[in-house]
Amino acid sequence: MSAPNSSYDPVQVTDLQPEEIEAARDAALAALAGADDLDVLADVRTRHVSGRPAPLVLARREVGALPPQARADAGKRLNAASRTVNEAYEARLAVLTEQRDARVLVEESVDVTLPTGRAARGARHPLSVVADRVADVFVAMGYEVAEGPEAEHGWYNFDALNTPPDHPSRELQDTLYLEPTTSSVVLRTQTSPVQVRSLLTRPLPVYVICPGRVFRADTVDATHLPVFSQVEGLAIDEGLTMADLRGTLDAFAAGLFSDVRGGLRTRLRPHFFPFTEPSAEVDLQCFGCGGDSAAGGPDPACRICSGEGWIEWGGCGMVDPAVLTACGVDPARYSGFAFGMGLERTAMALHNIRDIRELIDGDVRFALAFSRGGNA
Ligand code: DAH
Repeated sequence: MSAPNSSYDPVQVTDLQPEEIEAARDAALAALAGADDLDVLADVRTRHVSGRPAPLVLARREVGALPPQARADAGKRLNAASRTVNEAYEARLAVLTEQRDARVLVEESVDVTLPTGRAARGARHPLSVVADRVADVFVAMGYEVAEGPEAEHGWYNFDALNTPPDHPSRELQDTLYLEPTTSSVVLRTQTSPVQVRSLLTRPLPVYVICPGRVFRADTVDATHLPVFSQVEGLAIDEGLTMADLRGTLDAFAAGLFSDVRGGLRTRLRPHFFPFTEPSAEVDLQCFGCGGDSAAGGPDPACRICSGEGWIEWGGCGMVDPAVLTACGVDPARYSGFAFGMGLERTAMALHNIRDIRELIDGDVRFALAFSRGGNA
């Protein structure tokens, strides 16, 4: 065992020599001064201030090995250097933190007066809303919703519906034929072909409602569109009569128009349709002047009904036995009724819209105006 190392010379511990400590201190101060953001400062802190590789930290480990007097000297010098470096670090940290905060305040500030980028919410089109309401009224009565194609074979659109080959509605002036015209495919002129499709595919009894788009060779004006919408109804069962038809139409109008002028009434006028016998046109009490309401009768100046008091809503009737036969249904056992209404007219009556073209303008403000009223 060797004797105590009383002659240990601190000068031999290079790290603790005054010049080394000063050099380490100065290097740390220079690095701190050069740190121009908080990330760099964190790195400088590890390498020069308090991290394992910092020379002043490494030097401190050597202190314990010195004889008492030298240990005190070296400790003092080391502490002084460390204090200086720590203070410089804290000062630099304060400066850089303040700079960062000031920059964030500028860069991340929000100008609440700038226009927002948020897209405006749209609204459902009143026509879609009406179609849904019609479906709701009938689904509540046990009907199902049926659909058919818009490009339809002439057999469904005309022949099966008892419409003779020379019927004027088949002419090119009224009906849009797809090419080649010999294929007899038309853009359906009515939703009535869905009656045929429903009877051919569904088990009896059949109670269906068929909303959809239809097409006619019409020009646009305040009351006509070449592309418009209808809703078709069909009920085929045992023992159905015209009284069931009337009651159903009354329930339809009551369900849909309860909040228009305290409820709109309907009336039937005899008419002819190839697919129903007897047939009738369905009129709706005018939503503009109230028609022949107890309030005093039609207004001769009413622009909506031209002083008639009623507006045409659609057609209806008892399904012709020829249609049932074409669809494979025995007319001796089954009977029923059908009706078809214009959905645009229905929406116009509900919302007091005076020009049908408003429905196709595509102006979102129009749809928004109706979505606020609780109809959406
Ligand atoms: N399809 C007829 C039209 O477009 C409306 C219609 C009339 C439908 C009588 C029917 C009906 O179901 O029975 O003018």
